This record gives sequence, structure tokens and C-alpha cells, in this order.
Amino acid sequence: KKILILNGPNLNLLGKREPTIYGTLTFEEYFESIKKKYADVELVYYQSNVEGELINKLHEVGFSFDGVIFNAGAYTHTSVAIGDAIKGIETPVIEVHISNVHAREEFRHVSYIAPNAKGVIAGFGLQSYELALESFL
Ligand code: DQA
Repeated sequence: KKILILNGPNLNLLGKREPTIYGTLTFEEYFESIKKKYADVELVYYQSNVEGELINKLHEVGFSFDGVIFNAGAYTHTSVAIGDAIKGIETPVIEVHISNVHAREEFRHVSYIAPNAKGVIAGFGLQSYELALESFL
């Protein structure tokens, strides 16, 4: 299976950024470990801080890949355009968050991704990505 892990804004700073919330591992380190663990899966990773680039990537994979595991960061709570992009593609998308967004500020309780996603996984640290991957497999 071909699965894209797509990370949005500020997730390139994982490991350094608010470590009490997001942990001390970089995403690259985590990605290497799951690539090894799921060696028979074609796992692709892309990160961008730019909204349009995330949309372009969704369009690029959205008619050929088997799944997208998407942490849109703060765009989750603001981006109608990303919500529309997910609606427009065929590949199912699972929304993931490292933190439990529902236990945090009210503005993080809103998601423009969730209504168009296959499901949502939040609050399990980096393991959220793996739980989503298991569900696609
Ligand atoms: C996040 C939660 C968002 O509210 C926040 O803006 C992020 C990370 C998470 O993975 O917990 O950047 O998506």
C-alpha cells in the first residue's frame, strides 16, 4: 500500500517545539522507525508550512495513493481550502494530532478537516500516526 504522511505548519520543529506538549523526538527520527517497522508499506513523508503546498500535495497523491495521514497543525482549525481539497480527492484522509486538541484551548476544538476525513485520532503523541497507519492496513 502507498500511504502519505502529511505534516503542516510548525511540525518541522518537532523535538524542539514545546516539548512538554509535543515530545522530544524529531519527526524524521520517528519516521525512520515506522519505515523500518512497516517495511512492506510504501510510506512517503512530506511537510510544509505553506497552506497551498499542502493542498498541491493532496491533489498530487489524491487519485493514486491508498491513504493520507494528515496532521494539518493549526490549519486544521482555520483552513476552508484544505477542507475542500480533502473533499475533492478520492484517497481517504485520517486526521491526526499529537496532542489531545479537545483538552486544549477552545479554538482547537474546531476542525475543517474532520467533516471530510475518514476519522480522527488525537492525543496519543507520535503514536497517533501509527494508529492511523494500522487502520489503513
Ligand atoms: C497539533 C494541534 C494543533 O492545534 C496545533 O496547532 C499544532 C499541532 C497536534 O498535533 O497536536 O500545530 O496538530
